[in-house]
Order: sequence, then C-alpha cells, then structure tokens
Amino acid sequence: MLEIKNASKIYGDGAAKVTALDNVSLEVEKGGFVSIMGPSGSGKSTLLNIIGGLERLTSGEIILNGERIDNLTEDAFVAIRRGKIAYVFQQYHLLQSLTALENVLLPLVFYSANGKTEKAMELLKRVGLEKRVNHKPNELSGGEQQRVAIARALVTAPSLILADEPTGNMDKKTGEEIIRLFEELNRDGHTIIVVTHNPEVARITREVVSLQDGRIVSRTKNVGKG
Ligand SMILES: Nc1ncnc2c1ncn2[C@@H]1O[C@H](COP(=O)(O)OP(=O)(O)O)[C@@H](O)[C@H]1O
Ligand SMILES: [Mg+2]
Repeated sequence: MLEIKNASKIYGDGAAKVTALDNVSLEVEKGGFVSIMGPSGSGKSTLLNIIGGLERLTSGEIILNGERIDNLTEDAFVAIRRGKIAYVFQQYHLLQSLTALENVLLPLVFYSANGKTEKAMELLKRVGLEKRVNHKPNELSGGEQQRVAIARALVTAPSLILADEPTGNMDKKTGEEIIRLFEELNRDGHTIIVVTHNPEVARITREVVSLQDGRIVSRTKNVGKG
C-alpha cells in the first residue's frame, strides 16, 4: 500500500547542509505494522513527515495505494491525506479549549456526513474514554489525552496511521496501555508505522526498521507477528 523509493531529504546547504534521509527505500503492505528505531537525529521523524506530507522530499518517490503522492500540489496532497493518513504525536496536539469529543470531531469539520457525533462517541468508547467525552485535555491524564488523539486519528477511517514516539511522554504502565491499543488497531486491519525508542513497542510490531545517519541499517521481521 505504501512504497518509498530512493527517498532523500537534505536540509540547508553549504556548511549547514544536513542529509536527514539518504536514499531510503521501504515498502509497507496493507495491514502492516512497522516500527522505526534509531538514535536521536537519525531521520526517524523526517521519514514519517515525508510520508505524512508534512515535509517535501529532496529526491525520490512516495507511492500510496498505487498513486504517486510526493509530487502533488499542496491542495491535492491535503485532499489525499485527509481521510487516508492520520498522525499521532508524542505531544498529543489536542486543542485545549475543546472537549475530548470536540477534538475527535475536528477532522470531520470538512465533511457533511450524518452521524459524526455517533462515530466520534463510538471511537472514544473504543479507546476506553466513554466516561471522559466532555472533559478538556487539562482534565485528562497523559495516557487519556493520547487516547483522545488516537480516536481523533481514527475518525476519518484512515488507511495509514503514523505515530511519532506516541509513548514518549508516558510512564511505563500508561505506555503499555497505549501499545496494547495500537496492537488491537493493527489486529483490526489498520496499517501502522510507529517511530519509537521503546523496545516494548518495537517488540509488538511485525517489522523493525533501524535508521542511522538517514539510512536504513537493518530490517528485522518479528517472529510470530506475521
Ligand atoms: N527543519 C529542519 N532543518 C534543518 N535540519 C533539520 C530539520 N529537521 C530535522 N533536521 C535534521 O535532520 C536530522 C534528522 O532529524 P529527525 O528526523 O528529526 O531525527 P530523529 O527523529 O531520528 O531524532 C537531524 O540531524 C536534524 O537536526
Ligand atoms: Mg524524532
């Protein structure tokens, strides 16, 4: 479903030039569950951001569901991304003035579909927050805020979920709950790419991709995980 071909990303030039991604190629199949590991500065976020369209490639191609997406105009890309690719961040990125329910509804603001509230409620229930729907982010724990962010990511029924260190802000136990949630989502058929420093997260994914200095240095299939 996702194919990255010879992707490079160079920031700056001259003495300030940084090669954040150096000729990276990677395929992720539908229903895949891939973790991206590597030291700080190895290009993990850059890789996720070029897939999610937050950054443009310097060279190379990205093909999503058979369609090249790296060379689209901003508007065309936004249209593709909306609905197909969802992001979960380490810092949750929830709007503080909105309730959990309103945050989950936010990605649907451009849709005129019926039953939006029911859908959002169903997803909040799915992530175990049915009793917190009217709470604002500052009334929720870190783990609960990340659950809201995950429900928000799911509300457009994306084919691909991108998560950048989703358990990075959490204690071990809360992190494990979030990991289990990702595991369930993958079992339900969601394709997930997760950047992580957490070996517990990497262990439950089907494949671990290790980056170093912007290059893929290893790809390991986890035994018994498909
Ligand atoms: N906007 C930017 N401008 C210049 N350099 C950047 C920018 N974003 C990232 N980099 C550099 O690219 C490299 C990879 O960064 P990043 O993908 O954030 O690494 P990671 O997520 O693995 O810690 C780092 O050396 C970083 O400093
Ligand atoms: Mg990063």
